[in-house]
Amino acid sequence: MPGRTATVEYGSDGVAVISLQNPPVNALHPAVLSGLFDRLREAHSRSDVKAIVVTGAKGKFSAGFDINEFGKQAGGGGIDSTINDNFCELLESGPKPTVAAIEGVALGGGLETALACNARLCSPGTKLGLPELQLGILPGFGGTQRLPRLVGLQTACQMMLTSAPVSDAKALKLGLVDGVVPRERLLAEARQLAAEIAAGTKPRQFTLYRTDKLEALGEALAVVDFARAETQKRAPHLMHPLLCLDAIRAGIEHGGRAGLRAEAEAFAKAASLDAHKALVHIFFAQRATKKVRGVTDAGLKPRRIKRIAVLGGGLMGSGIATASVLAGVDVLLKEINDKFLQAGMKRVEANIMSRVKKGKMKEAAAKAALGRLIGTLTYDDFGSVDMVIEAALEDVGLKQKIFADLEAACRPDAILSTNTSTIDISLVGAKTKAAERIVGAHFFSPAHIMPLLEIVRTPQTSKQVILNTLEYGSAIKKTPVVVGNCTGFAVNRVFFPYTQAACMLVDLGLDPYTVDKAIQFGFGMPMGPFRLSDLVGADIGLHVGHNVAGSYGERTYPSRIIQALVDAKRLGEKTGAGFYKFDARRKASPDPELAPFVERSRKEAGLFRGGKPPAFSPQDIVEFIFFPVVNEGCRVVAEGIVDKPADLDVATVLAMGFPPYRGGLIKWADLVGAKHVATRLAGWAEQFKSAGLDGFFRPTRGLLRDSMPGLTATVDYGSEGMALISLQNPPVNALHPAVLSGLFDRLREAHSCSDVKAIMGCLIKWADLVGAKHVAARLAGRAKQL
Ligand SMILES: NC(=O)c1ccc[n+]([C@@H]2O[C@H](COP(=O)([O-])OP(=O)(O)OC[C@H]3O[C@@H](n4cnc5c(N)ncnc54)[C@H](O)[C@@H]3O)[C@@H](O)[C@H]2O)c1
Repeated sequence: MPGRTATVEYGSDGVAVISLQNPPVNALHPAVLSGLFDRLREAHSRSDVKAIVVTGAKGKFSAGFDINEFGKQAGGGGIDSTINDNFCELLESGPKPTVAAIEGVALGGGLETALACNARLCSPGTKLGLPELQLGILPGFGGTQRLPRLVGLQTACQMMLTSAPVSDAKALKLGLVDGVVPRERLLAEARQLAAEIAAGTKPRQFTLYRTDKLEALGEALAVVDFARAETQKRAPHLMHPLLCLDAIRAGIEHGGRAGLRAEAEAFAKAASLDAHKALVHIFFAQRATKKVRGVTDAGLKPRRIKRIAVLGGGLMGSGIATASVLAGVDVLLKEINDKFLQAGMKRVEANIMSRVKKGKMKEAAAKAALGRLIGTLTYDDFGSVDMVIEAALEDVGLKQKIFADLEAACRPDAILSTNTSTIDISLVGAKTKAAERIVGAHFFSPAHIMPLLEIVRTPQTSKQVILNTLEYGSAIKKTPVVVGNCTGFAVNRVFFPYTQAACMLVDLGLDPYTVDKAIQFGFGMPMGPFRLSDLVGADIGLHVGHNVAGSYGERTYPSRIIQALVDAKRLGEKTGAGFYKFDARRKASPDPELAPFVERSRKEAGLFRGGKPPAFSPQDIVEFIFFPVVNEGCRVVAEGIVDKPADLDVATVLAMGFPPYRGGLIKWADLVGAKHVATRLAGWAEQFKSAGLDGFFRPTRGLLRDSMPGLTATVDYGSEGMALISLQNPPVNALHPAVLSGLFDRLREAHSCSDVKAIMGCLIKWADLVGAKHVAARLAGRAKQL
C-alpha cells in the first residue's frame, strides 16, 4: 500500500516530524498505523532525535480509523488491545517527547493518537471529537481514559456519548489542546514546543497518569453512574454506550492502565454485537444509495439542477422549496391564486427563520436563501427551469392536466417530476409525450426536514433524468434512493402491514396501547402504529388502505377500526382525538372513549370471541407486526423495486425511523434469521387460514429460499449460450417449495440474460452423474445444429 503509510523527516533541530499519509483525510488504515509504529520506533532509537512531532499530510491530521476496514473485517476492523500496549505507549511514554500538530480534523482514532502525545497544538477551524459510538463501538486507542483526564469527566462523557466534535476554541478552553496556532506556523511551533519539552523547559505531560482534572473518587463515580442511568433511559436498547461508560469507570476506580485493559475488553465486546454490524452496514448502505446499477455506471455525466419550479405552495411544496433554496437552488413557486401563493411563501420564510431562531443559521444566509425564492401564478418563466416538482393536490385528473401544461411550458430537457404518494407515475404523465423525463420525486413530510427522497422511475424514465435527479437529491442534502413505480413505492409499500397487523392484534383481543408500547419501547420505533396513525390522520390512513387493498388484495387486512374512527371524525392529532386523546399541547394520552370503537371492530372482524385475549409477549407483538413488513420488503427486493436490499434498509431508517442499530428492515431480518421469520409467518398463515387471512402472512418465495440456504437451484452459464439449472436438495432433489422458488428465480434470471440461448434443467440425479458440463456441451452442440 504505497500511498498509505507514515513518513518521517529528521530536522537539524533534533526534531523528527512524522506525517500520517492516507489522503484525503489520513484515515488510520492498518498500513498507516503500522507505518506510524515503525517510524516512531525508528525515531526513538536515533541518537540525533530529541523530540517527535506527529502531524497529518495535506492539511488534515486524521479523521480516525479507516471505516472501510469495518466493512471488510469482523468486529471492530481488527483493532485489538496490542495497539494500546504498543503504539500509544510508544507515543506517550517512549524515550522522546511527542507533540501532535493538528490541522483540519482529529476525530476518533485520530484524536486518540493526538491524546497519547505529550502535548497538542491545533490550527483554527480544526474539529476534534470521539464519534465512535455512532458506529456501535467505543474509543479504542485509550480515548476513554485520556479524554476524561484532559477535559474532565463530565465533558468527556458528553463528548463521547453525543459523538459531537468541538471546535479549536472550545478545545483550547477545555484543555484538549495546549494552543491554537495559525496553520502556517503550526509545524514550526510544534517543533519548538517538542524541543522545549525535550530540553525540560516545558513539562512533559503523561495524560494517562494525570488526575488533576478528575473529580474526587466518590464524585467521579457519581458522574459516571448518572451518565449511565441517563443513557439507559435515552437508549434502552443499546449496550455499547454502557460498555464505554464501564471502561471509563474502571479507569477512574483502578487507574489509567487498568482502564486501558477494561477499554480493550469493552471494545471487543461492543465490536461483537449486532448493533455494531448494523450501524456499520447503515453507514455504508447510505453512501451506496447514490450508486444505481445501469444508471450511475453508464458513463453519463450528471447535470447540475440550478433552478427548479415547485407547483403548489402547500405543506409539501413549501417544504421542498425550503430545502432547495437552503441548498442554493433557485425556486419558482407557483400557486393558483395570490392568497395561496402568499401563504406558501410565508411558510417557506417561517421554515427558514425557525433555523435562525434555533441558531442553526445566520440571518444574512437566511436572507440570501429567501432571495432565491420567486412566487408566480403563471407558467411564463417555466422555460428557465431545469426541473419541475409538482406538489399540487392528490388528484389524477389535475396532475394530468398540469403535466400537459408543463410539457408545453418547459424546455424539452427539463425534468418533470411529481411528489405524488399514491398515483401511478406513468398515469400522471399519460397526456404527454414526455415519458422519458417524467419521474417521481417523493419527499416525506416535513419535506425540509425528513432526509429521504424516493426517486421513482418508470420503465420509460431515462437514465440521464434519474442521474440528474440523484444529483439534485444530494445537492439539497437528502439521501436519494431510486425505486420502482408501484403502489406505495418502497417505503409506504413495505409499511402497509405495520398498521394493518397492529389492527389485527386489536381485533384478536389485544389492547392498542400495549401494542404501541411494545413497538416503541420494546423495539425502538419512534412511535407505535396507533400513535403514528394519529399523527398522519385516520382519513389519510384509510385512503392509503384502500389504495393498497386495490393493488395487493389478499395480503392486506381491512382496518375496520380506522374506518370507524373516520366515521366518528376521530382523525387523530388534528381533531384532538383518534386512538389517543390530545391535550392543547398535542400531548397524547390513552383515551377510555376508544373502547366502543375497539369493541365494534372486534365484533365485525370475528377473530376474538371474548374471554381472555391470546397471550402475546412484547416480542410476539414485534414479530407479528414486523415480519409481514419484512415479507413485503422481500417482495420489493425480489421485484427489483429497489436496486439493492440495503437501499430498503436506508429508506426504512430515514423515512420511518426504523432503529439504525437494527440495521434497517432487511438487515434486521438477516440478523434475526430468515428461517425464524419464515417459520413464524408460515405458522400464522396456517393459523389464520380458516379466517381467510393466510395471504397476509404467507412467506414469499425469496424468504423461504433464504430460510433454507441449502435448498435451492443453482445456475451455471456455459460458453455456448447454455444455462444449466441444477436443483439442489440432496439426496434426490425433492421439490421443496424453496427449491421450486430457486428454480423459478434462476429461470427468470436466465431468460433475462441476453447471451443465454437455451436453458437446461437438471431434474434428476442422473444428470449429475453423467456430468452437467457434458450434457450442456452436447445440448449446446445440438442447439447450434438446429
Ligand atoms: N402531506 C404529506 O404528508 C405528503 C407526503 C408525500 C407526498 N404528498 C403529496 O404531495 C402533494 C401535495 O400535498 P400537500 O400535503 O402539500 O397538499 P396541500 O393541500 O397542503 O397543498 C397543495 C397545494 O397545491 C396547490 N395547487 C393546486 N393546483 C395547483 C396548480 N395547478 N398549480 C399550482 N398549485 C396548485 C393548492 O392551492 C395547494 O396550496 C400531493 O400529491 C400529496 O399526495 C403529501
